[in-house]
Amino acid sequence: MATSIIELISADHEHVKEHFSELEEIPGAKLGDWFCELRELLVRHEVAEEITLYPALRSEVAGGDKIADARIAEQQAAESKLAELEKMDPQSPSFLAELLQLRPAVLEHAKKEESDVLSRLQAALGPERLEDLGRAYALAMSSAPTHAHPHAPDTPPGNLILGPVAAVADRMRDAIKKAS
Ligand SMILES: [Fe+2]
Repeated sequence: MATSIIELISADHEHVKEHFSELEEIPGAKLGDWFCELRELLVRHEVAEEITLYPALRSEVAGGDKIADARIAEQQAAESKLAELEKMDPQSPSFLAELLQLRPAVLEHAKKEESDVLSRLQAALGPERLEDLGRAYALAMSSAPTHAHPHAPDTPPGNLILGPVAAVADRMRDAIKKAS
């Protein structure tokens, strides 16, 4: 049975919140791995939203353009922060400090998406359209590159899972274009 894009995105937001809630408990030696998981979660989610959720908001919801611009700007700020973090040493004290700053920005953005974007989409679109968008979103999420060397030793965290944020986002956008 198809699932609405609203449910899929809400579930992803819960996953991101749970991941962030572990931040203070993660031992320093594991922080690089924790960051790689966060980066994968966020990049896949955000690119999938930009390909499915935001075009629908722009074309099918009155006033959607302005809201899409504001939310996408927040996502791009988070992507830039992730790109900066992937160049840092996860053992350095400033790495954790930066992550602690990123957390409220990401969670606040997710809250705004739920109150400002998902609720409007829910009100404007019928259940079948929301399920179609759910299928497109799930396809976009599954088009992310797979893990190459998740536990390769002596590799900076930037290379552990997906490669740099910008490259991953580009590869996903290309993969979706080819599939559609
Ligand atoms: Fe989101």
